[in-house]
Amino acid sequence: VSYDVPSRLEGWHVRHRGAASLEVSDFFLREENLAQPDEGEVLVRTRWLSLDPYLSFAMIGSGDSGASWPVQGRIIGEAVQSRAKNVPVGSTVLGTGQWREWNVLRGADVDVLPGDPHWPSTVHFGVLGASGLTAWVGMTLAAVQPGETILISAATGPVGSVCGQIARERGARVLGIAGGEEKCRLAVSRYGYDDCLDHRLPGLSDRLVAAAQTGIDVLFENVGAPSLDPALSAIVEGGRVILCGLAAHYRTGDPIALTNFRLILRKHLTMRGFAWTEHRDMHPAGRAWLTERLAEGTLAYDETVSTGLPQAAEAYVAMLFGKGLGKHLLQLP
Ligand SMILES: NC(=O)c1ccc[n+]([C@@H]2O[C@H](COP(=O)([O-])OP(=O)(O)OC[C@H]3O[C@@H](n4cnc5c(N)ncnc54)[C@H](OP(=O)(O)O)[C@@H]3O)[C@@H](O)[C@H]2O)c1
Repeated sequence: VSYDVPSRLEGWHVRHRGAASLEVSDFFLREENLAQPDEGEVLVRTRWLSLDPYLSFAMIGSGDSGASWPVQGRIIGEAVQSRAKNVPVGSTVLGTGQWREWNVLRGADVDVLPGDPHWPSTVHFGVLGASGLTAWVGMTLAAVQPGETILISAATGPVGSVCGQIARERGARVLGIAGGEEKCRLAVSRYGYDDCLDHRLPGLSDRLVAAAQTGIDVLFENVGAPSLDPALSAIVEGGRVILCGLAAHYRTGDPIALTNFRLILRKHLTMRGFAWTEHRDMHPAGRAWLTERLAEGTLAYDETVSTGLPQAAEAYVAMLFGKGLGKHLLQLP
């Protein structure tokens, strides 16, 4: 394919003030220059943007000083020109780039993806990438035992859906929390859950206590207060909380309040936060497990795909609100 590489192009920026909630109107397209690749760099035509909750960390408060943040997230694209020894022209690469059609990236900072005919390259964002490995690392730290009950919030998200399948294989009783009847149905039919509770219905705390039966041994928390707080009522004495993410709190910088905070002390709970990148020793086993299940066709995952750069802001905010299913992606045709 021959390309007309532009010298100027539009890229997404965010200007958000700390106290407000992140909205589509905080995003805007700005025209900027595209540099030529230097020694060691590659010119990449973006094909996919990964719409990840963690990008909100940089978005929230980005406009407090009056400036804006040029949105940078994980991208997959084609190396169109290369001055980096490790990146052949024409290869598919994964790296961190701006939300725009073209990026110049350092060769040392990108992964050249294997051209596997069995699955699309986007699995390297999700089930074979950060989401799958986060689930693997978090579940390894959770050390869930056969017969234990585990509760996983955002049960059908890219991380939660893999957690459910790992927990099932390890012989646990797997409970989930998700938004809406359809996601709860899929949690049970596709992702290995024994039961899934809809957080949009009232009385979550009482429903959790009832569903937990003898109590929750492990809580795998992806969301924050809306699930952690009621789950503290249903967790056993000496229970473990693996704090993976706080997705409910990524639209503002507000403090997070827990009415059941005292139960952490009264029930002698352990709460452990983690970053998947800090546990590289666990990655080979995780990658092997995920690849094997994917190759066998026994690992379920879903993607929600939006199309075209102008849709990026709307698609991102929709993801934060829990619209769509699984890994959220934007395709640039
Ligand atoms: N620790 C690490 O190393 C690491 C690495 C990657 C990701 N993470 C974190 O892991 C979590 C899951 O990541 P993911 O990529 O799989 O994202 P995700 O599940 O798609 O996260 C968004 C989901 O959070 C739920 N949610 C958002 N606001 C909520 C609210 N107010 N109440 C209840 N649920 C709410 C929604 O699920 P429903 O539609 O079901 O309500 C929404 O779909 C995120 O918090 C992410 O930041 C951590």
